Amino acid sequence: MMLLSELRLLCDASDVPPGTARKIVIGRLVLAAFNLGGEFYVTDDTCTHGFASLSEGTIDGNIIECPWHGGTFDIRSGAPVDHPCTVALNTYRTVLKDGAVWIDLNATAGNRMSSQPGESQTCRTSNK
Ligand code: FES
Repeated sequence: MMLLSELRLLCDASDVPPGTARKIVIGRLVLAAFNLGGEFYVTDDTCTHGFASLSEGTIDGNIIECPWHGGTFDIRSGAPVDHPCTVALNTYRTVLKDGAVWIDLNATAGNRMSSQPGESQTCRTSNK
């Protein structure tokens, strides 16, 4: 079954400077928006190992390191990279439009099934 996209305004692009992350709450969703060199990525903010806020973690290239136990994820795919994280983050398709970042709530990557560290799935920003 094909779902129509449901774009929701997330933030102004300028709210998330390159190399940083920002926590954003939309309804029940607690999200982390990342700017990797002008490409925006959105994942769940809560680490799958515990309840740490990943937007408070350390970004190193495409990797976010959890501030609690040092587990890591690939920001682009949500895939766990290093232990103790073994369950992938949900990621959301993002759209950069008119200087703002939007997410498609019907386009989660659903990559919690990719629980093997190092597995990769793509969830990139498009300029539509
Ligand atoms: Fe994130 Fe433990 S809560 S690695």
